[in-house]
Amino acid sequence: MNKIKNIAVLTSGGDAPGMNAAIRAVVRAGIFYDLNVFGVYRGYEGLINGDFLPMERKSVANIIQRGGTILKTARSDEFRTPEGRRKAYEQLKTHHIDALVVIGGDGTFTGANLFSSEFDIPVIGLPGTIDNDLAGTDFTIGYDTAINTVVNAIDKIRDTAESHDRLFIVEVMGRDSGLIALRSGIGVGAEAIMIPEANMGVQGLINRLEYGRKDKASKIIIVAEGDDAGGAFNVGEVLKDKFPNYDIRVSVLGHIQRGGKPSCMDRVLASRFGVSAVEGLLNGESGKMVGQINKEIVYTPFDHAIKHIDAEEVSPVWLKLVEILSL
Ligand code: F6P
Repeated sequence: MNKIKNIAVLTSGGDAPGMNAAIRAVVRAGIFYDLNVFGVYRGYEGLINGDFLPMERKSVANIIQRGGTILKTARSDEFRTPEGRRKAYEQLKTHHIDALVVIGGDGTFTGANLFSSEFDIPVIGLPGTIDNDLAGTDFTIGYDTAINTVVNAIDKIRDTAESHDRLFIVEVMGRDSGLIALRSGIGVGAEAIMIPEANMGVQGLINRLEYGRKDKASKIIIVAEGDDAGGAFNVGEVLKDKFPNYDIRVSVLGHIQRGGKPSCMDRVLASRFGVSAVEGLLNGESGKMVGQINKEIVYTPFDHAIKHIDAEEVSPVWLKLVEILSL
């Protein structure tokens, strides 16, 4: 028989729209299955410091539509150390917690992976990151909202680009991944998209501009933060030298991409993941991330999830699509 009675939930790493919907789902599913649920403040920092709060049905009322995370989040240096993780484990024992739910991205699951290999306590993860850079799920919580935020912002930039015949270089988030750039770039009809996975390089961009349409002066180039080109301002400087006739501007979208109301897709995904996390724990799952692949719920070991190896979206098929559409 499953002995899980008390579970704790935390959010960690960069916030993502839909994290609150995920917390709500974990709490409500926990109560539905007759568990006691505790929220942990500030991610792994709160775990180490014993910052726990009992959560009830009403603690998560009216949050499904809110961006950010009511539990707050942090990137914990101490949890990267064996001593930090031991302190966290001892806090869980002191508070009689039988299982842990972590909501976050790459860094969160790297920590969770170590933690679950070191200590005998079930841990389940929910993919919460705008970057969509985890294997084991088609989409992460926050990605849909973020790409819609990017599309809305670039549609506005496009108005100015068209009116002034300007070339805009727009930098979007994605420290290690170009998936925000790729999908939003297709969505706004970008003339070129620079992502770390494709490694076009500034020279590749110059070639594309040289051979591209000459009768269209307004252009949108999207640069993922993690691309080797060294950021949008750097690309802008090189292009200014090479194409003195272009009127070039640079825009870095920054943290607006992480905030705001989650889209319906993110709310539903987060809700389904939250319930599946609790059900997974009760069915004996541990050391795994909940994901959705082809509409089915799957549980993927943390060490596989953090390898990004299913990032099939950055396949040549998608890159060819960008090239065809930017003619
Ligand atoms: O949440 C992921 C992410 O948005 C990355 O794409 C980005 O590099 C990073 O967070 C920036 O986070 P912060 O400003 O919190 O360090």
